[in-house]
Amino acid sequence: MEKTDPEKKSNATTFVGKTTNADSIIKPTSRKVLRIDRHAIVVGSSKEMPEIPNNSIDVIVTSPPYNIGKRYDPSGEFTDKLPLGEYLDFMGTVFSELRRILNPRGLFFLNIGDSARDQGKSEAVANQAVKSGFIRVQTIIWVKSLYGKGHYTPSGKSRRLNNVWEYIFVFAKSKNYEIDPKRIGIPYADKSNIGRYAKTDLRDPGDVWFIPYQITTGQTIKKGHEAPFPIGLPYLCVKMMPRARFVLDPFLGTGSTLAAAHHLGLIGIGYELFPNTKVIKRRVLETSFEEPQFPLITQLERLKTTGMELLVRLMEQAEDDEKEKAWQTLPTVQRKQFLWALKDLGLLESLVDKFPLSEKEEVLVKKLRQL
Ligand SMILES: C[S@@+](CC[C@H](N)C(=O)[O-])C[C@H]1O[C@@H](n2cnc3c(N)ncnc32)[C@H](O)[C@@H]1O
Repeated sequence: MEKTDPEKKSNATTFVGKTTNADSIIKPTSRKVLRIDRHAIVVGSSKEMPEIPNNSIDVIVTSPPYNIGKRYDPSGEFTDKLPLGEYLDFMGTVFSELRRILNPRGLFFLNIGDSARDQGKSEAVANQAVKSGFIRVQTIIWVKSLYGKGHYTPSGKSRRLNNVWEYIFVFAKSKNYEIDPKRIGIPYADKSNIGRYAKTDLRDPGDVWFIPYQITTGQTIKKGHEAPFPIGLPYLCVKMMPRARFVLDPFLGTGSTLAAAHHLGLIGIGYELFPNTKVIKRRVLETSFEEPQFPLITQLERLKTTGMELLVRLMEQAEDDEKEKAWQTLPTVQRKQFLWALKDLGLLESLVDKFPLSEKEEVLVKKLRQL
């Protein structure tokens, strides 16, 4: 995985205007406001956010209290186990505030997962957002662990399979929202699609995201919080938004969303009842963050490309009649990839006439010559 370089990061999202910190939009308040770099954390409940003007926030990313009895405050006074109706009312109150402050071109990403006993609760929370006036855009699935890669808390026991994914519900305030999925794009598996569907080797990654935790959940609890999501989650959500400047999380926890805003050169605002300043500061300013690269896919692609390059190099050195024989044994799909590799390696003109091409392959070569 590539480390993000700070120069590249600040260019990743267009940082528009002269505004340089959160104070430029936060209204005077009697509540305590903590500041970390250009970001701000309002200490208090997000049921009301009078500090934030209407339509001023470009992206919201959050993960609410799941109502499953987690302990977020040192004193243990906070009840993360309300009767369902009360919990949904609480969510509805916050969602109405979020709708008020969201820019009509912005989006609201809501991460939530069903626990073993609360199957269907996430859907009820999503419906509450719709009741608060949001338009449902789509549902992204966040995969924490895939076939053993990535940490998760075992929950299945002998009654069900372990749950290794959560929802990211996507909501808009208006149909005029703006999004550019290619900002988090992945390479094409079939390179022949370049030129057909896109000009570059970059396509929409789809609505299933594999973002494993870098460390175990146990370790994060010891580090100061019960339920953080990986910084990569808000990072991908925010990066897709082409004109974002202000990013907000109404349930900030350890500050993962602020960290994502920070790495993207944007301004973050958070609300938190029990902020642990030391933990948040460390998370926001941590320099070891690595941009998620959809690693399994990228690695597979890289392996395939390396294998094909090796084959091209071997063919390059073979006698002409051996070249022809080897070509006949290659499956059609690999022959197509081979021709693409010739083009990528700058060997198309010097080698292509050594291989007996089918009619379809002749057409492909003609296309490759024009690229
Ligand atoms: C699931 S955690 C969020 C974790 C966060 N996404 C992270 O990566 O660290 C929910 C957070 O909401 C906070 N919280 C609960 N009720 C709140 C309220 N009314 N206003 C603001 N924060 C609240 C809790 O203290 C907890 O830290």
